[in-house]
Amino acid sequence: MAPAKVAIIGGTGVYENAYLEDPQEMIVETGFGQALFCRGHYREREIYFLARHGTGHGLPPHLVNYRANIAAIKKLGISAVIATAAVGSLRQGMPPGSRVVIDQFIDFTKGRPATFYEGGEEGVIHVDLTEPYCPELRQAILRAGETLGERIIDGGCYLCTEGPRFETPAEIRMFALWGGDLVGMTNVPEVVLAREAGLCYATIALVSNFAAGISPQALSHQEVLDEMARGKDSLDRLLMAVATEISTGRNCSCSLGAGPWNPDWEASNDEP
Ligand code: HPA
Repeated sequence: MAPAKVAIIGGTGVYENAYLEDPQEMIVETGFGQALFCRGHYREREIYFLARHGTGHGLPPHLVNYRANIAAIKKLGISAVIATAAVGSLRQGMPPGSRVVIDQFIDFTKGRPATFYEGGEEGVIHVDLTEPYCPELRQAILRAGETLGERIIDGGCYLCTEGPRFETPAEIRMFALWGGDLVGMTNVPEVVLAREAGLCYATIALVSNFAAGISPQALSHQEVLDEMARGKDSLDRLLMAVATEISTGRNCSCSLGAGPWNPDWEASNDEP
């Protein structure tokens, strides 16, 4: 059997993986633009690493080309995607340093292309998100954590804001009342596009700070980067352990909700 191909989308503070063997950069062209990967191996797995904000964190959350990234993963024939996302916490039980395999999201974004299906020739689809994150990939992350002796919290609701600013304390109080546990700026539309493309997708949320008004101090991007740097080596190991837990065959229903895939979305822009 061919080795399982796995995509890793690294969020803030996660721009490469130290355990990736034979890393090589590659650009994938799609109908939505380019996506840049670092392709390598780890224990029989072919791994494609993509830094969501670019390798030098040059892309803010609202300008990430989520459609190009997901279309490129689909074009590469990958069906399993593990993403990381730095988040602020709304809950005392999820302090900085916590890792949470989220199971729900609330969308508070405002102006991003959020679907592959823009009507007209593309058609209209309304994808089911009763279970937004692949249950099998979520279990693979939890198993990998157990194997490494790491505590990973099973379940949490990610509230996605538009950013790039941090939130006000009033917004955070409202998000907590709504049922949000964690706040970040990038998981939507990534998770939605993955489902539209029929991919299995799960996210490890990495708590870098308590959210605005809960944290005793003003928030800063540097604080987020510092916390990410503290956990980077163990995160790199965890991601590789997750990749080795993933097999080629799965029994989840992630691929069933996909819309009709348009081959033009995989086109190279430079093709005639
Ligand atoms: N808010 C939004 N996004 C974030 C935060 C936060 O507090 N921390 C890390 N990403």
